Amino acid sequence: MSLRYLSKVAIVTGGSKGIGRGIVKAFVENGAKVVFCARGGEAGKDLEAELNGAGPGSCTFVSCDVSKEEDIKRLITITVETHGRIDCLVNNAGWHPPHQPTDETTAEEFRDLLQLNLLSYFLASKLALPYLRLHQGNIINISSLVATIGQKHAVPYVATKGAIISMTKAMAVDESVHKVRVNCISPGNVMTPLWEELAGQSPDAAATIRAGERCQLLGRMGTEAECGRAAIFLAADATFCTGIDLWLSGGAELNYGEKSQISS
Ligand SMILES: NC(=O)c1ccc[n+]([C@@H]2O[C@H](COP(=O)([O-])OP(=O)(O)OC[C@H]3O[C@@H](n4cnc5c(N)ncnc54)[C@H](O)[C@@H]3O)[C@@H](O)[C@H]2O)c1
Repeated sequence: MSLRYLSKVAIVTGGSKGIGRGIVKAFVENGAKVVFCARGGEAGKDLEAELNGAGPGSCTFVSCDVSKEEDIKRLITITVETHGRIDCLVNNAGWHPPHQPTDETTAEEFRDLLQLNLLSYFLASKLALPYLRLHQGNIINISSLVATIGQKHAVPYVATKGAIISMTKAMAVDESVHKVRVNCISPGNVMTPLWEELAGQSPDAAATIRAGERCQLLGRMGTEAECGRAAIFLAADATFCTGIDLWLSGGAELNYGEKSQISS
């Protein structure tokens, strides 16, 4: 198997679990040197040990809360001090709050989510860009399918994800002079700890998960590994793509929500 990102340096935020973990794995499997972060320590350290044992690339875990600007600065500084360059930034760390109607949503909750889901992407990009410009690097922002199709009782979340797509396009325009590509991925339902957490807040978690699977034409949720493959495609292969929003949705948006019958 050829290594598609050999010796390139990538940063992945929120890389200890879920979609971020799938992306860290895909980059390491393709020979990259990855610096990834999360807030807690244990899951990140365990993943670091596992992937460094497997190779052929390598990874370093950094504890960092992306809702704090100082932490993001530290993440970028550690990456540059360790590896001397940055080729790709994957902005992935984010959160989906429990579903709640607008009438019960406070301005403070909305502001906090903007800080975590949107401003962190902006700040990490701003701080990484001086390095990305030196090597015609790229940024990958993880948005969501719901930015385009909406979602019940999730106005702040949907708004932050829509803003990520718009920001991606605006940044792609500005950075084109430096040959830095800026793209995003919009996953539909992907089975991750976050999805399980949200299902756990419903009256019947197993039924919620089954319903989530049936949302896709393909009759299942996406996987962390599939998200990883989409990210490595954008970073390594999609050299004529900038400002795009890659839907990774199993066809969830098609046929007016009426899905084909899945045999099981
Ligand atoms: N799972 C889905 O179905 C789905 C669908 C569309 C979009 N997304 C988006 O994908 C991204 C990842 O989602 P996931 O389902 O893998 O979530 P997850 O909760 O399973 O994993 C999130 C990761 O981000 C880290 N993280 C959370 N807050 C952080 C912070 N403040 N600072 C640093 N790290 C932090 C966590 O430690 C973890 O490693 C999010 O932006 C989410 O909105 C997920």
